[in-house]
Amino acid sequence: MIRTHTCNELSRKNIGEKVKLCGWVHSIRDHGNLKFIDLRDRYGITQIVCSPEEVSEQIWNKLKELKNEFVISVEGFVVGRPEETINKKIDTGEIEVKLIDFVVLNESKNLPFEIEEKEKINETLRLKYRYIDMRKSGLQKNLIKRSDFLFYVREFLKKENFVEIETPILTKSTPEGARDFIVPSRLNPGKFYALPQSPQLFKQILMIGGFDRYYQIAKCFRDEDLRADRQPEFTQIDIEMSFIEEEDIISMVENLLKYAIEKTFEIKVEIPFKKISYNNAIEKYGTDTPDMRLNIEFVDLTKVFEKSEIRIFTEIIEKKGVIKGFFIKDGEKISLKNIEEYNEFVKNSGGNGIGWIRFKGEEIQSPLKKFLLEDIVSEIKNLSPYKTSSEVLLFLGGEKKWVNETLKNLIDKIKEKLIEQKEQFSFVWIVDFPLFEYNLEEKRIQSVHHPFTSPKIDDIKILEIEPLKVKSRAYDIVLNGIEIGGGSIRINKREIQEKIFKIIGLEEKIYLERFGFLLEALEYGAPPHGGIAIGLDRLLMILLGEESIRETIAFPKTQKGVCLLTDAPGDVEYNLLKENKIRIDISEK
Ligand code: AMO
Repeated sequence: MIRTHTCNELSRKNIGEKVKLCGWVHSIRDHGNLKFIDLRDRYGITQIVCSPEEVSEQIWNKLKELKNEFVISVEGFVVGRPEETINKKIDTGEIEVKLIDFVVLNESKNLPFEIEEKEKINETLRLKYRYIDMRKSGLQKNLIKRSDFLFYVREFLKKENFVEIETPILTKSTPEGARDFIVPSRLNPGKFYALPQSPQLFKQILMIGGFDRYYQIAKCFRDEDLRADRQPEFTQIDIEMSFIEEEDIISMVENLLKYAIEKTFEIKVEIPFKKISYNNAIEKYGTDTPDMRLNIEFVDLTKVFEKSEIRIFTEIIEKKGVIKGFFIKDGEKISLKNIEEYNEFVKNSGGNGIGWIRFKGEEIQSPLKKFLLEDIVSEIKNLSPYKTSSEVLLFLGGEKKWVNETLKNLIDKIKEKLIEQKEQFSFVWIVDFPLFEYNLEEKRIQSVHHPFTSPKIDDIKILEIEPLKVKSRAYDIVLNGIEIGGGSIRINKREIQEKIFKIIGLEEKIYLERFGFLLEALEYGAPPHGGIAIGLDRLLMILLGEESIRETIAFPKTQKGVCLLTDAPGDVEYNLLKENKIRIDISEK
């Protein structure tokens, strides 16, 4: 037996036992006639102690050659530590292992970086030497949490009668709004598979195939610009159900999240989550991904300023613009210098600047003070949801969409200051989305979610007359200002599905070529169905308190889509290209 225990297992109960441990040399401390080695594995650390009187000269000399990160196996006796040397910071802190003998299982070169707080290490190095990074940076802990979380997800879904089914990776395009990754087919020269942007069409086909509850921990591939919360390949908890309505999926997901999160983390999840309509979210938060930890809603000041004599505002209102803003409960947190910064920010965003009023008891402070009549001030104050003795109102005037967006961006800027409790997890559902939006650049109508999303039943009659007014049966779930999932009730009638394709500008020939199999399947008894996909990496990023999804993925890619460990993507041998009938355009390269 190469080891009898892990490095986090031994306690007072084992005193006197002869044990064997394996692990990495975490650190070596030399106290002249005593040497201490902290031996580490993924479970924890155990202190090994050795004195020259108790081992042979050969072992003592061999010990001198040990370096950090050597892999060793150690044999020794468990002894209790004297009271004054007990280390309460580690689980094995009451004992140490008195060395009898050890074997170097493998040596290690000097590390390319010291393993310490990950924020201090260049991320390029961390990605290149991921195996070293994993050992101590906390990544290992994150990956273990990920594994636990998925275990509880599976446990919950199994109890709820879901069937886990894998769907193909080499497949046809599934439109989720990104570019496809494509793979050439050697057997069908000139043809390509697309990697799935999601298992969307397969899960719908599974419903038609009679599986009324499907799930998959699904790998998805999207060739899009990468950000801290986006990877070209990522994982979804993908779910689909038949004979259900929106509420069934919503409540299933709430129960699933509550179960898996509470089992894995020390986090309490209160359900049901709040629901906000898309329109309301835009009006109140300027975004469909509001951060509900903030407790800040926009107030509309247009009516109040309409009555004022302040030209800059009345002019905006005459041009059909709006004046909107938000109160900050704890006004003292916002200094004049801060307001100056916000003013610059608004100017850089294309506005004239920011309006502000500081309420201090009965007094106000504001550059507009001399224009603000008493009754206007009290009307404004009445709009405050807080009514504390010291608060600040920040506001802007202009075209409605710009005002909403700029206020939201301003809140993002101030956010750090305003979130009272960071380790708070505020879920919210966004519902009643429009089915379509207008793409100004491409001058065409496109789906807000994917084109398989069902319109609200009452709106089907205006589908072709006023498509931009049609609401969808989609729902998104947002956690702390980040979209962690989205789904919908699907179209299960061919006729409506075809109408949607036409509205988004797909010609019949094209949609038949791309989605003919789905349209045909819809004609063979497709049950009413719907589902959702939760972005696993994103959800874990938030729950683990990380800033990037790369901290939840063992081998992530860089901003440029490169795996620094393996150097993918790489060149391909000429013969392979030839077999696939692919010629690379050197001028492009
Ligand atoms: P959607 O496209 O909204 O829906 O994706 C669902 C969730 O997946 C996560 N996500 C990503 N995470 C990391 N990197 C990315 N590049 C990335 N893109 C998306 C997000 C998102 O909310 N088939 C539909 C679901 C359905 O209708 O059932 C879909 O894929 O957290």
